[in-house]
Amino acid sequence: MSTTSHILGLHHVTLVAGNAQRTVDFYSRVLGLRLIKTTVNFDDPGSYHLYFADDVGRAGTVITFFEWPRAPRGRTGIGGTHHVALRVADRDSLLRWKRRLTDLGLRVRGPYDRQYFTSIYFRDPDGVILEIATDGPGMLFNEQAGITMQRTPPAELMRGGRDEALIATLTWPEPVSQIDPVMALTRGMHHLTAMTANVERTDEFLRGVLGMTLVKQTENFDDPGTRHWSWGSPDARPGSLVSYLERPPTERRSQMGTGQGHHYALAVADEAGQLLFRDRLLDAGLHVSPVMDRVYFKSIYTKDPDGHIVELATNGPGFLIDEPASTTGSTLRLPPWLEEHREQIEAHVEEIDRAPWPYDGFDGDRGMLSHSGRSLPIPETIEGSS
Ligand SMILES: [Fe+2]
Ligand SMILES: [Fe+2]
Repeated sequence: MSTTSHILGLHHVTLVAGNAQRTVDFYSRVLGLRLIKTTVNFDDPGSYHLYFADDVGRAGTVITFFEWPRAPRGRTGIGGTHHVALRVADRDSLLRWKRRLTDLGLRVRGPYDRQYFTSIYFRDPDGVILEIATDGPGMLFNEQAGITMQRTPPAELMRGGRDEALIATLTWPEPVSQIDPVMALTRGMHHLTAMTANVERTDEFLRGVLGMTLVKQTENFDDPGTRHWSWGSPDARPGSLVSYLERPPTERRSQMGTGQGHHYALAVADEAGQLLFRDRLLDAGLHVSPVMDRVYFKSIYTKDPDGHIVELATNGPGFLIDEPASTTGSTLRLPPWLEEHREQIEAHVEEIDRAPWPYDGFDGDRGMLSHSGRSLPIPETIEGSS
């Protein structure tokens, strides 16, 4: 296969948020991502579509949100996204994040040794489970690419076998008021985890149809005895990884709503490659959308065997096609076919304050609670996840 017919990795994930301003406050001011594009949902132009990423919007760093102010709270389950993991280089960065987030009032679980990486977990203001994971030691440290076997993780890393009390005490010794370049989350996503009722059927889709490599067959470290498989590039590069937790088919299905994933997108090189994938999906008897012009990329949409929406998006032309890197994200951008409705659209969406906060989202004792009268609601419950 040529490059054009390979899945290159994750392109973006799209989540549902209840309040655009709160989402901007959290993802840009707490997590330090850049609001790279402010636009509307092209299929529902009365609502925001916000894109967060690194400074230029490289594929794989992009997390996007539909704002659905009146939607009910969603829930995880079969056919849905379970959590999204961002990358850091090392464990010290992870501990620095734990300290920063804890000082801001978030509940943080971990660091957990996941054998192939180390992770912390917390939730965004809508309840999305977020993970930050280290690059190393990597998915392939104990086996060869493409030749995997079902593995049983070491008991001392599993729920019930690990020292939760000790893990809870681990953190960075000093307050972390600034996000330094080493801990910056602009390296993008590490992996995305969804849920399935049948992981072999998922394998037929991701490996059989999309040609991804099965890079790990292990167990859910938080739910011993259930399978957790991962697919990605042949070298299992962080940023290429999609994993699925298997649950019994009788368990609840996911429900779309705030705090839930809407879809995830895999990157393809170009439009020619996208058409090859479209043919491949049709040949497999799957439903697939026509090619949609998303201005910043072209997209096709299909569903995994559990009904989770999966998009294949081209790497280009990218987010700097309609505004320069220095100012991208700072004003509401509309695609050419919606410009004539700009006035109505602007009247319909609430204006967002994108200006940096004077203290970079952090103010010692006062934390996030005192700027412009806005508070940052912190969800209470953290479910298990790996
Ligand atoms: Fe998308
Ligand atoms: Fe994870």
